[in-house]
Amino acid sequence: MTKPYVFITRKLPKEAIQPLMEVAEVHIWNEEDKAVPREVLLEEVKKADALLTMLSEKVDKELLDGAPKLKVIANLAVGFDNIDVDYANQMGIAVCNTPDVLTDTTADLTFALLLATARRVVEAAEYVKKGEWKSWSPLLLAGHDVHHKTIGIVGMGKIGEAVAKRATGFEMDILYHNRSRNVAAEERIGCSYAPFNEVIEKSDFIVCLTPLTEETKGLFNQESFKKMKKSAVFINVSRGPVVDEEALYQALVDGEIAAAGLDVFVKEPVEASHPLVTLPNVVALPHIGSSSTETRVAMMELCCKNIELVLTHKQPKTLVNKEWGLSVK
Ligand code: DGY
Repeated sequence: MTKPYVFITRKLPKEAIQPLMEVAEVHIWNEEDKAVPREVLLEEVKKADALLTMLSEKVDKELLDGAPKLKVIANLAVGFDNIDVDYANQMGIAVCNTPDVLTDTTADLTFALLLATARRVVEAAEYVKKGEWKSWSPLLLAGHDVHHKTIGIVGMGKIGEAVAKRATGFEMDILYHNRSRNVAAEERIGCSYAPFNEVIEKSDFIVCLTPLTEETKGLFNQESFKKMKKSAVFINVSRGPVVDEEALYQALVDGEIAAAGLDVFVKEPVEASHPLVTLPNVVALPHIGSSSTETRVAMMELCCKNIELVLTHKQPKTLVNKEWGLSVK
C-alpha cells in the first residue's frame, strides 16, 4: 500500500519529523529559511494527504479547492488566522494548531518585551555597543517602572493568564478584557475584568494577546490610543492587523503614548524602514513569541503527531474545527 503524502512547508529538524516519516512519505520544502513559493505549494497540495504549514502560508479557498486528497492541515502556531477554517471544515479537512506547549514560552517573551520596552533595554545595550557611554548620568536612559503599576491584558486566554501570573511577581494590579469573563483566572490570580475602554484608560501597560478575527481587526486604533495614558506602554504579541499601525505611529510621535513593544506586524517580515521600526521608543522583534528551541521542537512534534493521528483515522490532539468528523474522507 502506498504511504500517504505529507508536505511540510519549511525545513524542520529531522528528529522532530522522524516518527511521521515512518508512516508517511514526507516531502519538505528545502530552501533554508525561505517561505515556500505559492506556486510550489499549489502544486504540492494537489497530491497531499496532509500539510504541515507555517503561519506565513495562506491556506485559502483557492488552495483548498486544488487539494482533492487533503485530510489534515497542521499549523505550527496556536493562531490559525492564515487558514480558512470554515472552508476547510466544509471540505471535511481537520485543522490543527499548537496550543498549550507554547503558553509559558510566549508569556516569557511577552514579559521580556514589556520589560525591555519599559526600561529601554535595547536602546541602552546599543548605546554601550556603539561606544556612546562616556559618563554615568542621573537620568541616563531612564525608563518606566514596571513593579506596582497596572497591567491591562486584552485577550485573557491561556497566554494572557500566564502573563498575568508573571505580573503578580512584579506586584502589579492586573486588569483584563476578554470576549467572555475568565472567572477561574480571576480567582487563581487575583485579576479584575473590565470593559475594553476601562482597561486601556487605566493601565500603564496594555498587552494585546487577542486572536485576530473580524471583530479584533483594527481594535487598537486612533481612538483607542487617544484614550490611553500619555505614559502608557503598548505591547503586541498577538497579530499585526489587530493594530492600526499608522495610528500607533502617530500616537507615539505625538506623545499620546510613551512606547511600544511589537513582536508582530501587519506585513511580515517588517522592513527596517517601516516608520514604526525607525522610532527610538519602539522595540521591534521578528515574531518570536514562541521561539525557544524546546518549545518550537515541541510544536513540531505536536504537528507531526496530529497528522499521524488523522492519517490513521484517530482524533488529533489539538483540533481547531471541533465539528470535524472522523467519517469524512
Ligand atoms: C502563534 O503560535 O500563533 C505564534 O504567533 C507563533 O509564534
